[in-house]
Amino acid sequence: MTKRNDLVIRFGGEGGEGIISAGDMVTQAAARSGLEVLTFKTFPAEIRGGYAMYQVRFSKDTVLCEGSVIDVTCVFNKEALDVNIGGLAEGSALVYDYPGGEIKEEVNVPGVFCYAVPMSKIAKDDLGTYRSKNMVALGAVAELFDLPINSIKETIEAKFLKKGQEVVDINFKAIDAGIAHVKENLTKKDPYSMVSGTRKEDTIVISGNDAIGLGALLAGVEFFSAYPITPATEVAYFLAKHLPRKNGNLVQAEDEIASIANIIGASFGGAKSMTATSGPGLSLMQELIGMASMSEVPIVIADVQRGGPSTGLPTKHEQSDLLLAALGCHGDASKVVISPEGIEDCVYLTVEAFNVAEKYQLPVMVLSDGSLGFRTASMKRPDPSTLRIVNRDITTNGENFLRYKLTESNISPMSLPGTEGCAYISTGLEHSESSAPKYTSDNHVAMIDKRFNKLDDLEDFFPETEADCEEGAELGIISWGSTIGVVREAVNMVRAEGIKVSSLYPKLIWPLPRKALDKFLDAHPKILIPEVNKQGQLAKVIQGETGVKPISYAIYGGMPFTPAMIADKIKEVV
Ligand code: COA
Repeated sequence: MTKRNDLVIRFGGEGGEGIISAGDMVTQAAARSGLEVLTFKTFPAEIRGGYAMYQVRFSKDTVLCEGSVIDVTCVFNKEALDVNIGGLAEGSALVYDYPGGEIKEEVNVPGVFCYAVPMSKIAKDDLGTYRSKNMVALGAVAELFDLPINSIKETIEAKFLKKGQEVVDINFKAIDAGIAHVKENLTKKDPYSMVSGTRKEDTIVISGNDAIGLGALLAGVEFFSAYPITPATEVAYFLAKHLPRKNGNLVQAEDEIASIANIIGASFGGAKSMTATSGPGLSLMQELIGMASMSEVPIVIADVQRGGPSTGLPTKHEQSDLLLAALGCHGDASKVVISPEGIEDCVYLTVEAFNVAEKYQLPVMVLSDGSLGFRTASMKRPDPSTLRIVNRDITTNGENFLRYKLTESNISPMSLPGTEGCAYISTGLEHSESSAPKYTSDNHVAMIDKRFNKLDDLEDFFPETEADCEEGAELGIISWGSTIGVVREAVNMVRAEGIKVSSLYPKLIWPLPRKALDKFLDAHPKILIPEVNKQGQLAKVIQGETGVKPISYAIYGGMPFTPAMIADKIKEVV
């Protein structure tokens, strides 16, 4: 049996059957064994019923994305079998619930190693609780593919002890029953078995949404207000737990308009402030984003994108809020949009979002997405002492204080309310340097220019845009957000076949990082932009700003790209 350095396991079943718990346990157990992990989940908008899926990839090396091929598929019911059976890869393994469940016949797929495990029957008849079916399945999968049983039991205890010792005990029994079934009834035929790693003490396993919350804490967030919306709600859950310990405050508002109004007010009062939402919420916030831009109030908005428009596909993946975030506001509003690639970026770019907001006094959006928000992955524990933290430059000098003074940097002095001699009106109306409403043509031009020109050195202030260029490559790929990890893997795949290709990974999305972008566009006659939205939104923005027409590779089925899809497209274009 070959130990695989890189293994992908998928659990498929019905929402409410404990797919997420089973997947989480494999993830935690793999991470505890010192492996790098990365997960992908998708589930229906309903609380119970409908197809739910949890996929975990683990490796001794860095895991860049969900991967292209599923090595092991474990299905809990007929619907999950039907969804997956057509896509089972040659040489992969299938574990399915038979007999005694919804699947009425033995399954034989040519080229696929099929294992029948009567999960429902064992759970119902032998253990007396259908609830434990997921753990019977997990025990069987662990035995078949050499997952660390002790670590799995540790995670069961950690997760279920709050439900009572009897819940832990029945789940231990379920795991043992799954193991026993494999030992007594099945013969291992496939070549897959998990490698073991070395446990690293400085590694944490964290979700994308929690990582945004962690980044906010590290940046020194003092006030957070949000209205719950899938897939962004966990940012609020995380901060509700941790912000009070840092003497911060959190308000669950009545809607998204109130959320952003709250954070504008708190920031005016001097507190580093943030909200988190998803597409429909970001639409509602637009007027007040304009207000924050006009009144130059620093705020951070995390937008965890989902399938749209409207309520759309609340639990599915899409990268379709870029145009809304960059260009959506009324009037000429200056603002900044940045987009994380993975879990580490969710932490560190949220810190940078605060830095940019506080330095340039404006709204900054962090564009995450559903696949990244729900993803769990391992990362090195952040060391706060190494972080750059920019705090607002507050003036207490009341002599000739002008809140919107036209300065050389176009950044004006800010004061805290109540400071003697430094009072001002923070207004959505166009205003003079002193903050009094003023509607003259000259003043509007001067103030609009100030609000845009203050960002002139943003590209230099922001972490450098990464370009991975190959000498002689005609094709350059530009990707953003969580598509970057998939592109990195695809680039490695095609380069291994001798194909020359370069890649640009912008994290600053608006305004575009023109120095890095123009250099890249100049060096590559063909530009390919893969993104998960119908309109090719980044491709449109780049074409509009630079005049270069990229080849847009747009998909919009609620699922992310796989590396194989990008690699095939690269070959087609080259
Ligand atoms: N023994 C005891 N309890 C178990 C168990 C076991 N063997 N396996 C699972 N459970 C519990 C879990 O602890 C969890 O309980 P909790 O709610 O108290 O934490 C519950 O059963 C559900 O299991 P879980 O594994 O977390 O989820 P699932 O795979 O069954 O899927 C969801 C359920 C998450 C898909 C579904 O409930 C959901 O939330 N859907 C999305 C809804 C949404 O966001 N809609 C959008 C609105 S706009």
